[in-house]
Amino acid sequence: MEAIRIGLLGIGTVGGGTAQVLRDNAQEISRRLGRDIRITEVAGRERDREKAQELCPEAEFTTQPETLVSSPNVDVVVELFGGTGAAKDLVLSAIANGKHVVTANKKLLAEYGNEIFALAENKNVMVQFEAAVAGGIPIIKALREGLAANNIQSIAGIINGTSNFILTEMREKGSAFADVLKQAQELGYAEADPTFDIEGHDAAHKITIMSALAFGTPLNFNACYLEGISRLDSRDIKYAEELGYRIKLLGITRKTDKGIELRVHPTLLPESRLLANVNGVMNAVRVKADMVGETLYYGPGAGALPTASAVVADIVDICRLISADAEHRVPHLAFKSGKVSAQQFVGIEEISSSYYLRVQAADQAGVLASIADILARQNISIEALIQKGVLDTKQAEIVILTHGTVEKYIQAAIEAIEALPTVSSPVTMIRMEPLHG
Ligand code: HSE
Repeated sequence: MEAIRIGLLGIGTVGGGTAQVLRDNAQEISRRLGRDIRITEVAGRERDREKAQELCPEAEFTTQPETLVSSPNVDVVVELFGGTGAAKDLVLSAIANGKHVVTANKKLLAEYGNEIFALAENKNVMVQFEAAVAGGIPIIKALREGLAANNIQSIAGIINGTSNFILTEMREKGSAFADVLKQAQELGYAEADPTFDIEGHDAAHKITIMSALAFGTPLNFNACYLEGISRLDSRDIKYAEELGYRIKLLGITRKTDKGIELRVHPTLLPESRLLANVNGVMNAVRVKADMVGETLYYGPGAGALPTASAVVADIVDICRLISADAEHRVPHLAFKSGKVSAQQFVGIEEISSSYYLRVQAADQAGVLASIADILARQNISIEALIQKGVLDTKQAEIVILTHGTVEKYIQAAIEAIEALPTVSSPVTMIRMEPLHG
């Protein structure tokens, strides 16, 4: 059988990794597939020419990506430019030209996936995106195929390697935030603009994609609440640890009676949970479903070769299904397109969670009682509490863990606590997920 011809848009970290995987594992991949995969064209910037030459000497190099997406020598376009500028036009034009597409671009899919998948269906081509979520972990395959027998109930995941790397180094070595971020950039984990990692956008794109696949809804990035790790104080990491918890940046989506929760924020997890022990650049996704129960998927969430592993697996899938009737392909959003339906999303004030609160207050009689009284008036029950004196002041830090409540009640309680004359600074609030089985 003739080789399948790949046009590579981008030969940076993941593009270079993809070329390397296809070169180094060519024999094993062809043994699985029964045909070869050949990179015939590469598009990049002039400074990438040498790298392309070295990794795929047989491929033609161009600085004009628009010629690649219409080239008769390309069957599958692999988009690794990232972003939603040129990448969006190139993907749409590749599809319009009848090319299958593999992309690692979570932002593009979370924000424009509905339009992209609709065009792909219309043109009878596949758009594969395993590498867009959790790097090398085959979570898209698990959600779309492995769990097809289930009603999925919730997903909770550590899905940004850079943030997890930063949180791990801060906790284990007491390193400063900025130093660890620089290290993550040097290691090729971070996005071109690292604020996407640390402010939660990258994780929000990924949980948006998983949520749609889990619940059969269109992609709805605007419904995702997001909060990153840049405002986390190392004191909270320490106090959480004293209480038996670790702080992780978690993407969460859950089906509830009120609708679908979709959110990304720093989260306390009991240290005994597997997710709490996922460290460094590793990612993990926990899926709860009605028939199978809980399943957990763990692996490297970033880096050249792990991400390329997912890209190449998508190319293999396309090769296997290229001649199949479109009816027999796995639907882009896991459910048949006519059955994908808009559903209600829950605003952050209506979500259910437990909470960590840190209150700085005057160290005097009655302060604790007044805070406890405010919580009681909102019907919020306290699970644990510690108090620390603040050195050389008459202030104390009161750290409270609550049992589950609805966010609007904790917000009302925080407002009342901050209005107390004995409370001098804003209350720190971090959500807590017990992740019961
Ligand atoms: N910047 C991302 C991360 C890379 O740190 O997880 C994979 O999307």
